[in-house]
Amino acid sequence: MKSNYDDCINLLYNQDEIQWYGRNYFLYFVNWQRNISVTELDGKKVVIKRNKSSKYFHEYILVIAYTTLSFMLCHPTPPPRLGSAMLVNEGFKMRKILEEIGIPTPSLLFISDTSLIEDYIDGGNLYHAFLKGMTHMLAFNAGSLTGRLHNANYVFTDNKSQNYLVTSSGKVLRTDLSFLQKESSVFSRSMDIGSFLASVIGLETDKYKAIETSFFSGYKSETNEPFPYLSIAIRNFLSIGFSPNLTIFKNMAKNSSDLI
Ligand SMILES: Nc1ncnc2c1ncn2[C@@H]1O[C@H](COP(=O)(O)OP(=O)(O)O)[C@@H](O)[C@H]1O
Ligand SMILES: [Mg+2]
Repeated sequence: MKSNYDDCINLLYNQDEIQWYGRNYFLYFVNWQRNISVTELDGKKVVIKRNKSSKYFHEYILVIAYTTLSFMLCHPTPPPRLGSAMLVNEGFKMRKILEEIGIPTPSLLFISDTSLIEDYIDGGNLYHAFLKGMTHMLAFNAGSLTGRLHNANYVFTDNKSQNYLVTSSGKVLRTDLSFLQKESSVFSRSMDIGSFLASVIGLETDKYKAIETSFFSGYKSETNEPFPYLSIAIRNFLSIGFSPNLTIFKNMAKNSSDLI
């Protein structure tokens, strides 16, 4: 008899079966890069991430934006590598390296060129946790995970709060490892800080400031350094570039000079 696992693998390769298996999905949401669905496999909830056909185009745009920004800030920096490097980043070996650095990730069950299956983390992503009001410890933890990665001379590149997951017991894990790079330049490190802060800068000012302060404390607790000096400039570029509005400008106007 076929196991649920075989069923899942078939599902990934046979588009015709998606409808039939559709009833097994209890959550499905469409994302920028990948289609993410949650299903049950051998009695355990898992997440299936399938690349969208537009993924390569989006990545291309991202790489151009990254390189252009590095030139604008007078820190020309090579963009993250695409294609097979991204597959390696999401793979078993890289997750083991991250575990040794002290960065937990969901357990990986399966990976191919176009899709992967990993354990479902029940507390949702960090941005949603912030919306629910849980800020201090979670932001501190995200800051320390970023600091640990920088200590090991790696960067996440796309470090938005939606790429962190929270367990029901409040542990913070990191997912979406595609853009991980072995890099330690000021620009690439600042991109990690700037992209995290830009992802939460639309929240109300008190909440944003609390997250910023805790993320900073967590980062400093690992690196013994303040944020790299391009962090706030990159935060501002990304914030204005993606969704400019009044709250963002209000939060940007608050003094952040003590962070760098
Ligand atoms: N293992 C997981 N458990 C629970 N939710 C997840 C998991 N992985 C991703 N998600 C949810 O899916 C969203 C998108 O996943 P992500 O891997 O970042 O895809 P993308 O490459 O499209 O950005 C996350 O922000 C999170 O809400
Ligand atoms: Mg993501």
